[in-house]
Amino acid sequence: MQLLDGKFVSEKLKQEIAVEAATILEKTGRKPHLVAILVGHDGGSETYVASKIKNCEKVGFNSTLYRYENTITEEELLKKIDEVNQDPNTDGILVQLPLPKHISADKVTEKISPEKDVDGFHPVNLGRMQRNLPSFLPATPYGILLMLQEYGIDTAGKHCVVIGRSNIVGSPMSILMARNTNPGNCTVTICHSRTPDIKKFSLDADILIVAIGKKNFVTADMVKNGAIVIDVGMNREVSTETKSGFKLYGDVDFENVAPKTSWITPVPGGVGLMTIVGLLKNTLASAKKEIY
Ligand code: GUN
Repeated sequence: MQLLDGKFVSEKLKQEIAVEAATILEKTGRKPHLVAILVGHDGGSETYVASKIKNCEKVGFNSTLYRYENTITEEELLKKIDEVNQDPNTDGILVQLPLPKHISADKVTEKISPEKDVDGFHPVNLGRMQRNLPSFLPATPYGILLMLQEYGIDTAGKHCVVIGRSNIVGSPMSILMARNTNPGNCTVTICHSRTPDIKKFSLDADILIVAIGKKNFVTADMVKNGAIVIDVGMNREVSTETKSGFKLYGDVDFENVAPKTSWITPVPGGVGLMTIVGLLKNTLASAKKEIY
């Protein structure tokens, strides 16, 4: 078993991003600029957004965080997005999900200009991704591709099983792994809450990508010997063991699954860190006008 080390890879890629950001600053007199919008006080979202902002600073980007209470109306939020869309000094916009129930995530996602949609959630970017046209890729799937690329893992011809069909991870991941690209060129199976016997499929996976949001969902008996396992799980539980008061668990029973695998991502220290790299790379690409 070898570790797909998100800490190592993310630090390396962030150094490369920092060099490019410095070049942009030198040439244009401005830094790439990310705007993050956070509604409410969800503990996980607060942590993730804080980390995104901190990492912008680390690589020499500007960032702005707009915070709103749960009481903000959909109309007010859409108006703010419009304002940021129009701002020539902003390269990327993200609205942290989930949103309160009275605000439509679909409306918000579609309001963000595709040219600034560094989360890659807008239908225009998703459609372009599916067609293999230049687009912002959703940050988590993009981070996973970067990790596979960094370790030189050849995915062509492999059976990739994705557990979970979310708009943010499972669904775009399945498209990316099936595309005629490298990484990609896999035969892809998507399993979800209505799949009667997930084990039947996961046992055949050469590459198993788990994004179901359930602690220790994948157990050793569900994994083929020598498989590559990517754990997207970010299950936060209150804990007295850590300084933050929370402990993060993946969707994979790492301790028992890891010995069977050829490669596996740890949680924490795996995919989560790569998601931020995906976001930073999209913001950089936007500043360089590489996509649109
Ligand atoms: N919530 C969980 N993951 C993400 C993400 O990648 N982007 C945004 N905006 N919200 C999320």
